[in-house]
Amino acid sequence: MIRRGFAALGVQWRRVVRGASRFRNDPKLRDRLQKTTKQAERARWRVGRLEQRIADVRTANAQAFARIEDNRELYIDLLKRALMHTLYRPLDIGARSAYAQRTFDEEQTRAEGRDWPRSAQTMVGIKRLDNVQNCVETVLRERIPGDFIETGVWRGGTVIFMRGLLRAWGDPPDRIVFVADSFQGLPAPNEQAYPADAGSQLHTAKSLAVPRAEVERNFELYGLLDDRVRFLEGWFKDTLPTVRDRTWAVIRLDGDMYESTLDGLVNLYPQLAVGGFLIIDDYHAHAACRLAVTDYRKEHGIEEPIKTVDWACVYWRRER
Ligand SMILES: C[S@@+](CC[C@H](N)C(=O)[O-])C[C@H]1O[C@@H](n2cnc3c(N)ncnc32)[C@H](O)[C@@H]1O
Repeated sequence: MIRRGFAALGVQWRRVVRGASRFRNDPKLRDRLQKTTKQAERARWRVGRLEQRIADVRTANAQAFARIEDNRELYIDLLKRALMHTLYRPLDIGARSAYAQRTFDEEQTRAEGRDWPRSAQTMVGIKRLDNVQNCVETVLRERIPGDFIETGVWRGGTVIFMRGLLRAWGDPPDRIVFVADSFQGLPAPNEQAYPADAGSQLHTAKSLAVPRAEVERNFELYGLLDDRVRFLEGWFKDTLPTVRDRTWAVIRLDGDMYESTLDGLVNLYPQLAVGGFLIIDDYHAHAACRLAVTDYRKEHGIEEPIKTVDWACVYWRRER
């Protein structure tokens, strides 16, 4: 519009100049010519001011967007540190293997999620939370449809993080975070059906049994317990079949055992959207979990490359 205005002004200006030479000696016309010249100058000045104002608004908009992104990043970063309990010293280090005890200092141990912390709301480390952030933000940016789920939530930290990410991105519609757990720890191994789980003692670990009320309370502490969060309480083999018809954008499996991992794959993977992500927390940490993934991939001809997140966790993005 501004350019068209300029073009029109230019035409008018040329006419005036042509006319001026013809009527130079006519006082009336000279007077008119002077007036028109002044009007044209004023119009030019106004257009200039308008252009300046548009440029100012554009700059202000860009600055506001940058500030929003900055604040979002600050919130997400603080949320991660709070969930991992790395904001305060001394660090909250819980049970860890003799290998971790020998090999890593406390900072590394918590940062890499190599312990079962005493009060942190997640046992995963920073790389795994970064990976969750990357997967969630990618599907939001690229509008890959579907919900988010973690199977095996313990105190809820990773699902709280998923819900926090949604909030930080303005709560886009039609996205729900599913929270699947027995809330009483891992199942005893079913050695007949799943020989890979034979000898597992994980079901005896009392510290892995976190009641649902405690997980809900943790969501509340962050102001993130609302109707965007759905609990699937019970053993995966019973609860996951009830959500088989949903579409998933991000699936995170953290059930440690062969059976728990396979239950997640069988019931959820077929409905993972193309472009969505599958994350397996324990792939490098538990041989039984790795075997479940290998068996499922073989059976279903899944060839997407497996990418490593850290010493324990892997993921891939569904391509077809
Ligand atoms: C290692 S913890 C999960 C850690 C958690 N993702 C975090 O961010 O800290 C494993 C969880 O999986 C749950 N779990 C494992 N197998 C299960 C199954 N078959 N059915 C229900 N819950 C299961 C346990 O109750 C436990 O809370």
